[in-house]
Amino acid sequence: MTTARPIALVTGAGVRVGETIARHLARHGYTVAAHYRSHRPRRFAAAFQADLAAPDGPDTLAAAFRARFSRLDLLVNSAAGFEARPLEATDAAAFDAQLDLNARAPLLLTRALLAPLRRAHGSVVNVADVGGGLVAWNGYAAYCASKAALVRLTECLALELAPRVRVNAVAPGTVLWPESYGAARRRELAARIPLGRAGTPLDVAEAVRYLAEAPFVTGAVLPVDGGRRLNGRAGG
Ligand SMILES: NC(=O)c1ccc[n+]([C@@H]2O[C@H](COP(=O)([O-])OP(=O)(O)OC[C@H]3O[C@@H](n4cnc5c(N)ncnc54)[C@H](OP(=O)(O)O)[C@@H]3O)[C@@H](O)[C@H]2O)c1
Repeated sequence: MTTARPIALVTGAGVRVGETIARHLARHGYTVAAHYRSHRPRRFAAAFQADLAAPDGPDTLAAAFRARFSRLDLLVNSAAGFEARPLEATDAAAFDAQLDLNARAPLLLTRALLAPLRRAHGSVVNVADVGGGLVAWNGYAAYCASKAALVRLTECLALELAPRVRVNAVAPGTVLWPESYGAARRRELAARIPLGRAGTPLDVAEAVRYLAEAPFVTGAVLPVDGGRRLNGRAGG
């Protein structure tokens, strides 16, 4: 497909934060290819299914994308798993599951899409997290390790892919509660946010668009957290 509009591929675009990012980009002139695993996104230029935790999942997604599009202006790695797990319950499989999806998949997908990214002088935005990405959380060691890895990958790839491709990350705080959190837990966590409330998925989407369109910014990790990283280390 050829189009004068910039082309974005957003992973995890069927629900919640990823969907908001994808719709925001579409509203601002991007042709959006939307990736999903189980919730198929509607009303985008293309939708591609892939299990990104599988070793060949990123290559499968990249092949489907490249069969439709010849260049890629923006790759947003938003798909992720979020699991609270104390050390005693963290075995090899649990650790690998977080790392495979949250850190390895963005790396492999960026690698598989390098040619169309380079062709477009494009950029990558990784969706990290304040938890692990910027501060340690109690009870989330594997998750935090995966987001810390994603932040460092962002910086390493920014170096390796410059000057042709920029690589940045957003580090959201709470912008959409996990559905399992009750009102009391939400109040308790909101009290740890200096700005006194949770953010919204749109806050993250606007940060993604800023990073995508900031030509002199690479290797940046932009917190979108109401100051949460400055205040408190308990998880979730
Ligand atoms: N929510 C927050 O407040 C918050 C805070 C900080 C950081 N973040 C980050 O923002 C991003 C989105 O968060 P969210 O809360 O919207 O996430 P979420 O509700 O947990 O959704 C997870 C997303 O990842 C996809 N996914 C899960 N397993 C997958 C797999 N094996 N292969 C491919 N895709 C898979 C899901 O696709 P399907 O639904 O199609 O299966 C879904 O789109 C994540 O990177 C998260 O770490 C969110």
